[in-house]
Amino acid sequence: MSKRRGINYWEYIRVEGLLALQSGMHEDESSVSNDEVLFITVHQIYELWFKLILRELENVRSVFRQNPVPDQDLASAVRSLRRCVAIFEIAAAHWKVVETLTTRDYLAFRDQLIGASGFQSAQMRQIEIILGLDDDKRISCAGEGTYKDALNGPQGEISPALARVEAQLASGPSFRTALYDWLARTPIDGSSEEAHVRDYTNTFLVSHEAQARQLIEASGAALPQMDRELLEKRFQRDIDQARAFLEGHDLKLLPDQEQQARRHARAALVFIESHQDLPRLTWPREVLETTLALEQSMVIWRQRHARMVERVIGRRTGTGGSGGVDYLDATAQRYRIFDDLWAVRTLLLKSDLTPSLSRPEDYRFRVED
Ligand code: HEM
Repeated sequence: MSKRRGINYWEYIRVEGLLALQSGMHEDESSVSNDEVLFITVHQIYELWFKLILRELENVRSVFRQNPVPDQDLASAVRSLRRCVAIFEIAAAHWKVVETLTTRDYLAFRDQLIGASGFQSAQMRQIEIILGLDDDKRISCAGEGTYKDALNGPQGEISPALARVEAQLASGPSFRTALYDWLARTPIDGSSEEAHVRDYTNTFLVSHEAQARQLIEASGAALPQMDRELLEKRFQRDIDQARAFLEGHDLKLLPDQEQQARRHARAALVFIESHQDLPRLTWPREVLETTLALEQSMVIWRQRHARMVERVIGRRTGTGGSGGVDYLDATAQRYRIFDDLWAVRTLLLKSDLTPSLSRPEDYRFRVED
């Protein structure tokens, strides 16, 4: 009988190499406690998940950097985004394993880690960069100039972590930029003309105000005068905010062309979300939905990390020198990338108040004879 040729499991998966990676600072696994091996292993598992996420995000970004974006590529982008969401959701569950460390267990080896922190995870930063996190949103960890300073080597030299981050920054526009550019090119009810987009926005805002007034009427009658006044103020604020968002009042500092593109992108978001059942808008809507789901899964991951940290080390200073839990909660609150996608959820109208389209036939799969 001939011997089986070809590769086997342990060679293909590189099992021996993989199992030799948990030996800690002294590269001697026999000197490392079970608690520390757990700590190292969970970090390594996360870094592997981050690696896969980055590969998928490269695919998503390259789809949207095309102009035009071929319709048939949208499904591939959505598949990649869904995979990232699934990974972040599973990764958030890993904190449960870390929580089997008691405070005392962790303190037994924590002191030797001072100076090392997840804050130096280059792949986490790469994910934020490829998605498009604005630098001015970043919070300093321990008073360093920028997040990049924390990635310098001990003598100020370029570390492999910093080299990764620099390469990511040099790799071109983020997914958010590419997505917003795509939205800014999206025809709205059959046209991309600026005047047409403005008309669409105005019609939508009239309906939006009508919906708010209906709600004031419906809920106000049952309330005492004081509560009614408060309610009216709140609905008026909603009306004003909707107008400010769609007319781009917050964009005034940008060049005119960029303001116009962003207003168009926002109108496109309202348009796609409002008419999501039309066949030709179903995949664009799916792109928005999975992008939002991805951001949501990252926020939950950050919040869950903070709760694990609070449980294991309380509110003490982090090994990276940050305020610990307070720092982590602040990142969960502030590190939002796709603000416009979230903002639109506040504006949407119920179906019977959504302005109807003048050219719904443009959005069927095919025009019937
Ligand atoms: C007992 C376990 C852990 C504790 C007590 C802990 C604690 C902390 C603290 C206090 C920070 C804030 C920065 C600092 O001052 O160090 C931080 C940041 C971070 N940690 Fe953890 N961590 C733990 C495990 C993990 C694991 C397993 C990962 C997986 C990769 C991780 C990923 C991160 C990341 C990416 C940051 C940076 C967050 C940001 O700047 O947005 N941590 N961690």
